[in-house]
Amino acid sequence: MFDVVVIGGGPAGYVAAIKSAQLGLKTACIEEYVDNKNKPTFGGTCLNVGCIPSKALLDSSHRYQEATSHLKIHGIEVGSVDLDIPAMMKRKDDIVTKLTGGISGLFAANKVTPIAGRGKVLANSKVEVTDLDGKKEVIESKNIIIATGSSPIEIGSAIFNNTNILDSTGALEIDKVPETLGVIGAGVIGLELGSVWARLGSKVTIIEAMDNFLFMADKEIAKETLKDFKKQGLDIKLGCKLTSSKSLKNSVKITYENNGSSENMEFEKLIVAVGRKPNTKDVFSEDAGISLDEKGFISVDQNCQTSIKNIWAIGDVVRGPMLAHKGSEEGIMVAERIAGKHAEMNYELVPSVIYTHPEIAWVGKNEEELKNDNIEYKVGKFPFAASGRALAVDQSVGFVKLITDAKTDTILGVHVFGPSAAEIVQQALISMEFGASAEDLGLTIFSHPTVSEALHEAALSANNQAIHIGNKK
Ligand code: FAD
Ligand code: NAI
Repeated sequence: MFDVVVIGGGPAGYVAAIKSAQLGLKTACIEEYVDNKNKPTFGGTCLNVGCIPSKALLDSSHRYQEATSHLKIHGIEVGSVDLDIPAMMKRKDDIVTKLTGGISGLFAANKVTPIAGRGKVLANSKVEVTDLDGKKEVIESKNIIIATGSSPIEIGSAIFNNTNILDSTGALEIDKVPETLGVIGAGVIGLELGSVWARLGSKVTIIEAMDNFLFMADKEIAKETLKDFKKQGLDIKLGCKLTSSKSLKNSVKITYENNGSSENMEFEKLIVAVGRKPNTKDVFSEDAGISLDEKGFISVDQNCQTSIKNIWAIGDVVRGPMLAHKGSEEGIMVAERIAGKHAEMNYELVPSVIYTHPEIAWVGKNEEELKNDNIEYKVGKFPFAASGRALAVDQSVGFVKLITDAKTDTILGVHVFGPSAAEIVQQALISMEFGASAEDLGLTIFSHPTVSEALHEAALSANNQAIHIGNKK
């Protein structure tokens, strides 16, 4: 009998398992994923086919672009620059192997029992495990945590075929730079992976159904980033809905609707990135007592508890943003609650980052949300064009925008488009966790020269005290 059985070993599940074991609970983690050598592998989407491999390729492609087009202005001539895609892919795969192997090591060090196979919750806290050879066994546990994650959404107008109509996993495995690349969906994956292949030389067209670009971001940031992506050569077609596609021997023909008229394009490869859906199929039996919400996620309360007291669900399989750090924190919270501790998540402060170049990152409320909530606010802004460090590193596009409560000066949101946006937002987030005001940040000493000084100046600007730009009269 286990104290805790976790189903799914992604960033939500493996963190929940390690934390549970650290709290003295007898813990097992079931994972069905096997790598391309048929080896059972923990780490989930994030480590195997998500966050980590995509960031490895974003970095490699960025370096290639620097070498081919950005070093000249520094007075550095590099002659001809060659691309070795197999070497680039091997580097990415080696990072994945190192990190997933690290989880096995952490399981061993913390005495988590790894189980390779597929888990299914049955009635009365039992879990059926089907091992990799199809053999079934039932194990018992005092608590069960479901962390089965999510998968790419497939649309009828572009069925994945793993050759030229690809999901995000296929998009991380392309073995030769396609001359033309179509991407369906200008969301986070479309922008990140579209950027990778555009930097490596593909002519990239992104087809987006919605009229407003990056609807989840602050409007001003979205407008600025769209301009910059277009400058970078990404052809982003807004308000265009894919209606059909046809896979040919060496290309994919697509038809999409643009303002009521039907248009066609042809690409060497097509990536479809229109969102992800929770993995709930065959994860629990009908009599297990678990239900789904109206969007198909496992129903849980604010503490990730299902309607069955000792069954919990965390990560992408439950409501909230589909982000690794959100799932991991839920895993910690649930492990602590099972161990009888008081723990909760602050869902108001989950940061978002899009790892393009420049990066886009934000935390807290944006102007549109505050207007809808009738909250009076002040805005402080600082452009990277006025930052000495940003100019020195040749990354002066974008700005920091900090929003504070008009009455209390409490920081309500920070939105950044520019160099190290993720790190700058993280600094702001720490201060927000402690209830900081713009004045608090304004009174904090920032190292010079750093791009973080833009956050300092944005905080000063919210109270008309900026030093390196003009203040409102
Ligand atoms: P998952 O990581 O999906 O893990 C669930 C695991 O459960 C899987 O390994 C699956 O095999 C296993 N499983 C499912 N059903 C069963 C079963 N019945 N029995 C046993 N095992 C089962 N997020 C970020 O925060 N930052 C990023 O930079 C980022 N980049 C991304 C890039 C890409 C290309 C993609 C696709 C996603 C990215 N994400 C990123 C999202 C992130 O990967 C997910 O939010 C995160 O992995 C969710 O964690 P999870 O543990 O809930 O689920
Ligand atoms: P997404 O939800 O970010 O974007 C999907 C886009 O596709 C939307 O803009 C949507 O309007 C559009 N779309 C939907 N149907 C369409 C159609 N038929 N034709 C044209 N456009 C259509 O989803 P995405 O990019 O697939 O990513 C999935 C999740 O993975 C995200 O929600 C994100 O949370 C996570 N992720 C996070 C990353 C990060 O944190 N940096 C990186 C990559 C993924």
